[in-house]
Amino acid sequence: MSTDDEDSNIEAIAALSNAFSEEVVLDRVLETIVRVALKCTGATAGQLMLSDQGTLRTRVRATSRQDVVVEIGSTIEDEPITGLIAQAVAQAGRSLTLDTANETAERFARRDSEARVPCSAFCLPLFHKRRLVAVLYLENDRANKAFPTRKRALIELLASQMAIALENARLSQALYDEERRRFFAEGRLRQAQFALSEATRATAIEELVGSIAHELSQPLSAIDASSGAALRWLKRDVPNLEEATISLNKVQSCTTRAKVTIDRLRAAISQSKTLFEEFDVHAAIREVVLLARSRIDELDVQIELAGMSVQCHVMGNRVQIQQVVDSLIANALDALTSITQRPRIISVSSARHEGRTVVISVADSGRGIEPGSEDQLFRPFVTTKPRSIGIGLPICKRIIEAHGSAMRVEPLTPFGVRFSFTLDQALQNNDAD
Ligand SMILES: Nc1ncnc2c1ncn2[C@@H]1O[C@H](COP(=O)(O)OP(=O)(O)OP(=O)(O)O)[C@@H](O)[C@H]1O
Ligand SMILES: [Mg+2]
Repeated sequence: MSTDDEDSNIEAIAALSNAFSEEVVLDRVLETIVRVALKCTGATAGQLMLSDQGTLRTRVRATSRQDVVVEIGSTIEDEPITGLIAQAVAQAGRSLTLDTANETAERFARRDSEARVPCSAFCLPLFHKRRLVAVLYLENDRANKAFPTRKRALIELLASQMAIALENARLSQALYDEERRRFFAEGRLRQAQFALSEATRATAIEELVGSIAHELSQPLSAIDASSGAALRWLKRDVPNLEEATISLNKVQSCTTRAKVTIDRLRAAISQSKTLFEEFDVHAAIREVVLLARSRIDELDVQIELAGMSVQCHVMGNRVQIQQVVDSLIANALDALTSITQRPRIISVSSARHEGRTVVISVADSGRGIEPGSEDQLFRPFVTTKPRSIGIGLPICKRIIEAHGSAMRVEPLTPFGVRFSFTLDQALQNNDAD
């Protein structure tokens, strides 16, 4: 073996072990294996077939003219001869060398077939713990006897390492798939939770409005009747002040009753305390963005997340904070629908502040708000949308106030608006500072 050959082999082996210690992505490992095999042996083409419950499937195909060109796909139609050779190797569990096109044709080409026959080929099984993991096929379409003992020995030497790397990558791919599946399953669960809390919200509002109407209708009709009577006593030719006073006293007592009823209702509502817990607010927000994704994509909105790739534990009610961010994103999307002359952008960002708070903000490049209308937006039933009721922001305000903070809104120049609020960071904050 020449020194140049040795150097390039050492380089290839180093590349291989480096790649295998770092790579866990299956396709990258597959690519590295064929790339290195082609470089070490000078083969003009190669394939790596994975064994899937006894069936071989080509996952990578590579060719080498000047540089190695790799093609990755889940199933690539096999060339008939390559397939037959690989199957023979898988069955025998041993490597196979074919030194000439004639030899290959004699053993593998069917008589009626016009399949291309390589000048020489080398094919070997990759085993992990005695289980066939893959078959590596290499060929040379220019030279006979292109795979001498020393080249074969080198690949055979690397075979077990290749098999281990493949198995590891396959396992982590399976883990990754499982994690993704779980994430989306949990996402669906949260979506259902959201829908549920939306539905509960609607029912609660309906009930609340119903009971307020019921509680107040009695004193209000009494006020109506008594004030009418008072007016009639006063409008007489000779006004009867005594009777008018009696009626007005009734008005006053009914007004007091209405006020007490309102106070009682208010007290009942504020008694329903929400559960506070420690949670990663960034993960919670990322989830909301994921759930809003289809509307974001539909409207061709670009969404930017800043400072949200690390964990940030806060104290609060996770579902409620998600509702706030969801409401703000929904409003931002509404404000962007009419924008056609500039990019539609929503920026959701998180910044930590001294005093162990974190500021969460949602800004958009939408149509913005009227200067001076900031406070107005947080009043119930204020809306500019034909099919909305205008309770998104008042609910956000309530939730954020229950978290000991306040909702802020600021018009942005040249356009758009930013809503923000702060949350208290939990005492042990993973990635803080
Ligand atoms: N990002 C924004 N840009 C421009 N205007 C906004 C924005 N967010 C809210 N507004 C204005 O504030 C109003 C009140 O918002 P709010 O979320 O309370 O109610 P809504 O979105 O109209 O209805 P709901 O949230 O009940 O479906 C909106 O109708 C809109 O005019
Ligand atoms: Mg809204």
